Amino acid sequence: MKLFLASSLVVSSLFSAEVVEVQKRFESSQKCKVCHRRIVEEWSKSWHAKSHFENDEYFRKTLEYVSRKTRKSLNAVKVQCATCHNPRISVTKTDIDYEIAAVMGLTSDDDPVNKAVNSKAISEGINCVVCHNIDKIHDEYDKSKRGINRVEWTPSGVMTGPYKDAKSPYHKVVSHEFMNTNPNKLCFVCHANDRSVYGLVFTDMESEYIGKKTCVSCHMGPKHKDVAATFKMYNGKAKMRMVRKHGFVGAHTPSLWKDALELELKRQKDKLLIKIKNPQPHNIPSGFGSREILVEVVYKKGSTTVGQKTLSLTRHYIRRHKKVGIAHLAVKQSKDTSIKAHGEKIVRLPLVNGAESVEVTLYYRLVNDEVRTLLDLKEQIWSKKNFIVKSSLDLR
Ligand code: HEC
Ligand code: HEC
Ligand code: HEC
Ligand code: HEC
Ligand code: HEC
Repeated sequence: MKLFLASSLVVSSLFSAEVVEVQKRFESSQKCKVCHRRIVEEWSKSWHAKSHFENDEYFRKTLEYVSRKTRKSLNAVKVQCATCHNPRISVTKTDIDYEIAAVMGLTSDDDPVNKAVNSKAISEGINCVVCHNIDKIHDEYDKSKRGINRVEWTPSGVMTGPYKDAKSPYHKVVSHEFMNTNPNKLCFVCHANDRSVYGLVFTDMESEYIGKKTCVSCHMGPKHKDVAATFKMYNGKAKMRMVRKHGFVGAHTPSLWKDALELELKRQKDKLLIKIKNPQPHNIPSGFGSREILVEVVYKKGSTTVGQKTLSLTRHYIRRHKKVGIAHLAVKQSKDTSIKAHGEKIVRLPLVNGAESVEVTLYYRLVNDEVRTLLDLKEQIWSKKNFIVKSSLDLR
């Protein structure tokens, strides 16, 4: 019996990621709140907590668009994207039988695929039992294997964490280097090698990354003293620890964009030189495909505007039959206009006759005009201009 079990495990892991069921008492972050309230509250405001399709309009509409254009059922696409957006899903692959049944409207609520996609268990997106139940990260696997296909899970109820000496009354603990000395390895499980359905890689933080700085040092903030759990575990006391914040703050937080890039203006004969520097260890805009940096240039004579120009640094995607598309359906992409990690970009513009001064402002937008229109995104956050930096130059 043992032998049979062992061999069937190997077989299943050859063909699709291995699923380990999460017991009800660990499934939701609400279960962790009694002892880890601060962390649960911080995490619940993060975009990891919004990575489920119900909670992110851009993600949901992209799923629908991919399903329409590839003529695949919506649930099959949801399973595909769950690889990174919802890795605790209980079904990791769909087959042709499901597609046929779905097209004919013959699948019921009891179908394992439908059940998996609609399960409450995955409604929290990337929650505690995603990161803290990762037991092993297979960096020896092919680069294209990400999320669910790159990891092994701990048995339900075993939490991986940074401390070697932690004890908890609610769960077992185990310590791993990717929670402590090498956390980038954890982030790269998903923040790397994101590709279109045709295999075109449109974002890869791992290959563009420069230096040894950890993602968590910026996106979870510096280490500071606090308790990791309020439960009085150690001789009637909670232990003081070095901890970080679980906000995973990033592109959706406008205040963070302030000064994320640097700006230098210079006049060179009849040209204006705009130098944009990126002090961060990854490209900007980076990450997901249709992000955009806007460069707004205003020429002035006294206080009157005598000329204006807006440049867009973004990516455009071509799908099949040369149509405008989105990253996930791309067969081709336009030139990379992002500002490289620790790099700089120089834009040259002609001066405007009579202008006495020029003012340049950089903004960031989550989604460019093209893709916002294509997907008909309604929420305001996608079009909002987030201020980065401003500079002016006297031209007299
Ligand atoms: C995206 C991955 C990720 C998610 C999601 C996540 N954590 Fe963490 N967690 C980490 C990392 C990385 C560390 C180690 C940070 C460090 O100290 O450098 C950590 C540390 C911790 C610690 C140790 C104390 C501390 O703050 O460093 C606890 C406890 C913890 N997490 C609980 C939780 C709980 C509860 C949730 C769900 C509300 C959660 N985590 C969600 C990645 C994650
Ligand atoms: C009854 C209280 C309690 C509950 C409920 C609880 N924990 Fe903990 N947890 C603790 C204690 C106590 C520690 C140890 C803290 C320390 O050593 O500083 C801990 C430590 C951790 C650590 C760090 C482990 C390490 O080795 O670094 C993680 C991660 C963690 N818990 C995750 C969770 C998650 C996720 C949940 C919800 C599914 C949860 N905990 C529910 C009490 C609890
Ligand atoms: C299981 C896959 C997975 C892992 C592991 C993971 N992330 Fe993410 N992360 C995502 C996805 C998916 C999103 C996009 C969610 C959305 O916008 O709906 C995201 C979004 C983010 C954002 C953007 C937030 C914003 O407001 O724009 C930051 C920053 C981030 N992650 C940092 C990290 C860091 C740091 C780690 C490592 C400690 C990490 N992530 C680990 C999948 C993951
Ligand atoms: C030195 C600080 C720093 C480090 C280290 C760092 N980032 Fe960032 N990151 C930023 C800043 C600043 C921005 C732009 C403002 C924002 O989104 O917070 C950013 C933006 C992002 C974005 C949104 C990008 C976009 O164009 O939409 C993601 C995703 C992200 N970082 C993930 C990561 C991951 C994953 C790592 C580690 C591999 C990492 N970051 C390391 C500072 C850092
Ligand atoms: C390799 C892991 C991975 C896979 C597979 C994946 N994503 Fe993502 N996705 C990410 C990460 C990481 C981010 C966050 C990047 C950032 O913010 O810069 C993200 C962000 C997004 C965003 C932007 C969300 C926002 O709030 O701005 C959309 C839309 C999206 N993904 C759609 C999809 C769709 C549709 C699929 C399936 C066809 C998919 N993703 C599959 C990793 C993945």
